[in-house]
Amino acid sequence: MERTLTILKPDCVKKQLIGAVINQIERAGFRVVAMKKIKLSKETAGEFYGVHRERPFFGELVDFMSSGPCVPMILEKENAVADFRTLIGATDPAEAEEGTVRKLHADSKGENIVHGSDSAENAAIEAGFFFAAEEVVRNN
Ligand code: TYD
Repeated sequence: MERTLTILKPDCVKKQLIGAVINQIERAGFRVVAMKKIKLSKETAGEFYGVHRERPFFGELVDFMSSGPCVPMILEKENAVADFRTLIGATDPAEAEEGTVRKLHADSKGENIVHGSDSAENAAIEAGFFFAAEEVVRNN
């Protein structure tokens, strides 16, 4: 079993799509092993996306990610990291495959509904960013 870290971003929460997106995630075979609702500060959002600090879109990304509550989750499944990125689609919804979360729900490259870790190593780091060990509980 592999784990990945997702965030239902502030646009997902504002559009009242928390349930719809979690439904799609569970139907694709992922299990939710940790979940919370949290509003990130600009500092925390900047820390999470620190790898993009020098990119031109960093300021907008931090403003967006701290604009309202979001829902980070740890998901478990075989091949979770790659399968989740397939499920959500390309960063830019205009380039995402039909039926993917971002194609279905995202408005733009910047406001694209969900985050998904890009490697198992980063998934572990990102999971630790949001969750303490006792908040991570397998379903059975
Ligand atoms: P990135 O890690 O490249 O994409 P992904 O989320 O698909 O792994 O970028 C992180 C986030 O930064 C992305 O979800 C939205 C934002 N972003 C922009 O706003 N503009 C851009 O040109 C890119 C590449 C990313």
